[in-house]
Amino acid sequence: MKVDGIHTRSIWLQPDGWTVAAIDQRRLPHEYVIATLTNCDRAADAIRSMLVRGAPLIGATAAYGIALAMREDASDAALDQAYAKLIATRPTAINLKWALDEMRRALVPVKPADRVVAAYRRAAEIAEEDVAINQAIGANGLKLIEAIAATKKPGERVNVLTHCNAGWLATVDWGTATAPIYQAFDKGIPIHVYADETRPRNQGASLTAWELGHHGVDHTVIPDNTGGHLMQHGMVDLCIVGTDRVTADGDVCNKIGTYLKALAAADNKVPFYVALPSPTIDFTIHDGVKEIPIEQREAAEVTDMTGRTADGRIETVRIVPQGSNVANYGFDVTPSRLVTGLITERGVLKPDRASLAAAFPERVVRE
Ligand code: MRU
Repeated sequence: MKVDGIHTRSIWLQPDGWTVAAIDQRRLPHEYVIATLTNCDRAADAIRSMLVRGAPLIGATAAYGIALAMREDASDAALDQAYAKLIATRPTAINLKWALDEMRRALVPVKPADRVVAAYRRAAEIAEEDVAINQAIGANGLKLIEAIAATKKPGERVNVLTHCNAGWLATVDWGTATAPIYQAFDKGIPIHVYADETRPRNQGASLTAWELGHHGVDHTVIPDNTGGHLMQHGMVDLCIVGTDRVTADGDVCNKIGTYLKALAAADNKVPFYVALPSPTIDFTIHDGVKEIPIEQREAAEVTDMTGRTADGRIETVRIVPQGSNVANYGFDVTPSRLVTGLITERGVLKPDRASLAAAFPERVVRE
């Protein structure tokens, strides 16, 4: 997508052909800084520290992390070490494991002397595949938005609520939840987005608002507790969120607070869609609440907030009393019964085992 009129991705290979550039998302929306990843340790740190974040982008970064590792040592032992280092960075998004397994599958049969070329080739393919998948998600989700737009009176907009950032910053390009939004906007459909601020990391306020604004999409940032009220008053036509892992039975794990939005949507008969690329499906598990590991992050994310002061300084301030206990669960699970549909690259699916298996038979794990 575009930043100041320039087509930009969240991650790319530099012209030198080996270093990897990524937008430092910890600095947005206050500063636009490009970080350079020069080895596997830096790629792992980028994922762990959330310089990059969002399930598909985590996967693409890990793939390049393996390529960077192979430049230094292309032995079997080095491949195993790089895999172990990268898989330990964040526990919830399954795209990380998917991408690392893809890299291993591509590299194990290749002799070490040829591994660097093979690694960069597969990492670039993973990035390109993500872009193509998200475009297809956009086309499939666009039909849902068009159907709602067709029911509107002249001058009325389609109102979409989203949570966290499942935009192009969370993927290589387009985003998952935002791909249908961008495609609708580009087609001239009047559309407006309610972006949940998404405490504690504020991905909605800092990232979704930033990228929608750069694309020209009308949007309103709302405190996390606002969605239910808006839905009760008919102000939301549909919810579209992203996800970090979907089980074989259609349970959806996403940023903490997604479940509460799904409950409010069900109570108010607002369609609740989840947009996902197929690498986000974990066909090895069924019950999301019991089986998906939920990341718990540091207390400072809850106790502190960072912003820009009126005179331009970036400052972090504490908002919680010293001595209070803090809990910081990064994700929650929305049971499939609360999901209207899964917007994938192969169509909008029912959130159940049969539909997922029929759409992605090559991914099904035999039990
Ligand atoms: O903790 P984050 O910022 O990595 O969490 C990101 C999300 O929860 C996204 O909604 C999800 O990864 C989908 S991204 C297309």
